[in-house]
Amino acid sequence: MKVAYRICALIIIISVFGKAKEVVVSHKVEIDYSELADEAEINKHNILEFLNKTRVQEKYKRLFGTLLNKLTTYTKATRRGSTRRIVFGVNTSIAAVPWQVSLREKTYPICGGSIITALWLLTAAHCLLRSRPNDLSVRLGSSWKTHGGEMYDIKESYVHPKYIRNTKVNDVGLIKLYSPLRFSARVLPIRMVEKGARMLADQAAIVSGWGKLRESGPSATFLQSSTIMTIAMKLCRHSGLDRNPIDPASMFCAGSFSQPAPDACQGDSGGPLVSEGVLIGVVSWGLGCARGNFPGVYTRLTNPVIWDWVYGLISRTSRTNNTL
Ligand SMILES: *[C@@H]1O[C@H](CO)[C@@H](O)[C@H](O)[C@H]1NC(C)=O
Ligand SMILES: *[C@@H]1O[C@H](CO)[C@@H](O)[C@H](O)[C@H]1NC(C)=O
Repeated sequence: MKVAYRICALIIIISVFGKAKEVVVSHKVEIDYSELADEAEINKHNILEFLNKTRVQEKYKRLFGTLLNKLTTYTKATRRGSTRRIVFGVNTSIAAVPWQVSLREKTYPICGGSIITALWLLTAAHCLLRSRPNDLSVRLGSSWKTHGGEMYDIKESYVHPKYIRNTKVNDVGLIKLYSPLRFSARVLPIRMVEKGARMLADQAAIVSGWGKLRESGPSATFLQSSTIMTIAMKLCRHSGLDRNPIDPASMFCAGSFSQPAPDACQGDSGGPLVSEGVLIGVVSWGLGCARGNFPGVYTRLTNPVIWDWVYGLISRTSRTNNTL
């Protein structure tokens, strides 16, 4: 039983019980974001305002609904087609979650992250502790962990000043690219949840990444995603996690109490948790992976201490270039 950050290997989520019969389904979930991407590209220099438009939020929300349906249908179909094989996550094209990036240290994939503006990517603080920006890079626009899409070098990385390593409080970090991204249907920003927004329990959310497919198992080569539910803090604190303090201000739980339960795993850290087309959390830590009674723990982006820090950095434009 190890409480662990979810750095280093990848996400979710296939467990095989007993004698599993392999079903070969080369199907993957996709969504068409091209219209939104064209608009985002035109508005990339005021992308935060663009993402905050009601009309744009509705589009994201609608596409999120479509994605949720597809994931559910696909998961069911996969289950039907197999014996005793439970699939927690499914192959998911980057075209379904185009804000997802793979963060690498000297080309080795360590974490996930999310595109939030053309220059800034959001990840977990603990993903950035070991390495200097020079050693970091990101792959984006690819469903594959090891090829495709584009690689970008990192100019600057920032860890939340109130991040505490021992308690995992305020586990959020930012990385800045050298030059703005070109948005497309496979490279798209996601809006961060509103500061102080009330978060509800039992909301469907989608977590994605290339982390481990099961606890102590191999990590994914093709992007995985899974539908999980936000969990009331009260329930979460009474779960197996309660031996390890959950800070309700800077963390929340999501997953399922059924067993085995979809979950993020090592290598998914820093990756997105999206609900209603809005980024609500960052994959942070867990107790093992996908054990029904231990949900995953996510960084709570609505927390003003976290939100203000993120927003403050990303909304600062190129002022730094104008120093005397
Ligand atoms: C998922 O993708 C991998 C890599 O392409 C493939 O080997 C596997 O069969 C796919 N699984 C399903 C269930 O589609
Ligand atoms: C988004 O727009 C609303 C008004 O529509 C405003 O109250 C809110 O502060 C804006 N949020 C951001 C992050 O700009």
